[in-house]
Amino acid sequence: MILLDMKQHTVTFAFLSLILMSNVSGQSAATLLKGDEKLGGRKAQAGESITSKLGIEDCTFLYYVDCTQGICYCHLSSVTASEGCEQVSDMKAQSRDTFNPNAFLFLSSSASSLPPSRLLLGRQLNKLPHPVVILISCDGFRFGFQHKTPTPNIKRLISQGTEAETGLIPVFPTLTFPNHYSIITGLYPAYHGIVGNSFIDPKTGDSFDQQNFDSKWWLGEPLWETVVNQGLNAATFFWPGSEVNRSSWTCPSKYCRQFNKSVLFEERVDTILSYLDLPTSDIPSFMTLYLDDPDAQGHKVGPDHPQITEAVANIDRLVGRMISGLEKRGIFEDVHVILVGDHGMVGTCDQRLIFLKELAPWIDIPENWIERYTPLLSIRPPPNVLADDVVAKINKGLNSGKVGNGKYLKVYLKENLPSRLHYSDSDRITPIVGLADEGFKVEMNISVARQCAGAHGYDNAFFSMRSIFIGHGPRFAKGVKVPSFENIQIYNLVTSILNIKGARNNGTSSFPKKVLLPRHN
Ligand SMILES: *[C@@H]1O[C@H](CO)[C@@H](O)[C@H](O)[C@H]1NC(C)=O
Ligand SMILES: *[C@@H]1O[C@H](CO)[C@@H](O)[C@H](O)[C@H]1NC(C)=O
Ligand SMILES: *[C@@H]1O[C@H](CO)[C@@H](O)[C@H](O)[C@H]1NC(C)=O
Ligand SMILES: *[C@@H]1O[C@H](CO)[C@@H](O)[C@H](O)[C@H]1NC(C)=O
Ligand SMILES: [Zn+2]
Repeated sequence: MILLDMKQHTVTFAFLSLILMSNVSGQSAATLLKGDEKLGGRKAQAGESITSKLGIEDCTFLYYVDCTQGICYCHLSSVTASEGCEQVSDMKAQSRDTFNPNAFLFLSSSASSLPPSRLLLGRQLNKLPHPVVILISCDGFRFGFQHKTPTPNIKRLISQGTEAETGLIPVFPTLTFPNHYSIITGLYPAYHGIVGNSFIDPKTGDSFDQQNFDSKWWLGEPLWETVVNQGLNAATFFWPGSEVNRSSWTCPSKYCRQFNKSVLFEERVDTILSYLDLPTSDIPSFMTLYLDDPDAQGHKVGPDHPQITEAVANIDRLVGRMISGLEKRGIFEDVHVILVGDHGMVGTCDQRLIFLKELAPWIDIPENWIERYTPLLSIRPPPNVLADDVVAKINKGLNSGKVGNGKYLKVYLKENLPSRLHYSDSDRITPIVGLADEGFKVEMNISVARQCAGAHGYDNAFFSMRSIFIGHGPRFAKGVKVPSFENIQIYNLVTSILNIKGARNNGTSSFPKKVLLPRHN
């Protein structure tokens, strides 16, 4: 049974989705399906020939079927005919043995499999000779900021792409450098070496800061190196670590910029676009673009201030500038745009402070033991002091009820931190780590009163620390939501899109199959 045989190209099926086509103005479909209504007012069974319920004659809208826990629903996707019309073959025949709804359960197991790939293909490139990924990071773009104000361009990527439904989960600590470098290497900070925005190597006593481009600090293999190693071009318009020299990447001036926060965002976008005007063989397969907002505002005014709203609107305008630049070149549907952020932002206020001086009856912690105060308290006592003794005394004080807000700070030997944080397996991580509760700050002693502001760096389990993941392009299904995932998975997504072999990393090798459409061959 061939439902629709458009003269056009590919078959597009989505993760969690089988895409059907229908003319909404055609009688049967219109009455059966409206928006997200259940199929014909009832639940469809897995394997049922749902297509037969749709009066498929024309291709005006796409529907996708979402099967979870044995129940399938039809959803209206916002894709229109001109962009989305594709051939659909006999779903029922295909589905008889493969359309097992359990196979679509994303969260429950990593062993799940998708239906045979001959039905589930990414879209063909029209103009570009090879796949291209543009990875855009907006610093401190907390999940949900996209709803603060009209963001038509971001919404367009969402409605015609694939979104992490409840945001992208950062790695711990939820700071800019550790997270950007996790996104680009697929490694947790303990393994890529950038365990904080600043820290000390206890072996050498050397300290790392954000302007340090000595390759000894930056472990793992960043994507630009992976890409270049395999004979493709990469370009970076800022990304933490991109200035660092590696065996096959030396931040070439043609394709890489030294970080300079004064460079206008528009110039950053336009430069990335200009790489797409290069001779075909010079067009980078992978490009990064970093925007400092809305983190810059978030630190000053907290996450809920009109300045954030304005910064988000501006980010949306820049996304629009990127989209229209791609459209002008006729390659918007050819390029993979991945829009992410490194972490979220939470409000902090004077009342939510914990002063270490108040621990004096239990333990005196000299300032020079402390590498970082907040929100990730990092303590490295000298070798002659027992770390577990320090931890015990601090926690005794915090639990005594006599230290202001003491119950909102928990201090651990790093090896006793919750294993989900993956934050122990590096000498660069201090032996003692304290986790402040959401919105709390740790300081030495009371000082001048300050304004409420914003911070990040907290436990990555806090929803306020989440950022966004939106993927748009040939390998991303349209109008699909996937469950939240950790940003270390992005490395494998990019190598899969580019069809190159990645370095070992902490992402799951089967992950790309769950989020991307299989390659169109
Ligand atoms: C990287 O190498 C290039 C050329 O070999 C050199 O000009 C540049 O200063 C080096 N950069 C760093 C950060 O060491
Ligand atoms: C940083 O960028 C600004 C704006 O483009 C420019 O004026 C300035 O010279 C740059 N600074 C450095 C160190 O390159
Ligand atoms: C903390 O600061 C207050 C106010 O400046 C001062 O009175 C107090 O002695 C300080 N406490 C310690 C233990 O240094
Ligand atoms: C992360 O990846 C590194 C490099 O492959 C490996 O050494 C480490 O054991 C991994 N850690 C986890 C928690 O998977
Ligand atoms: Zn920040």
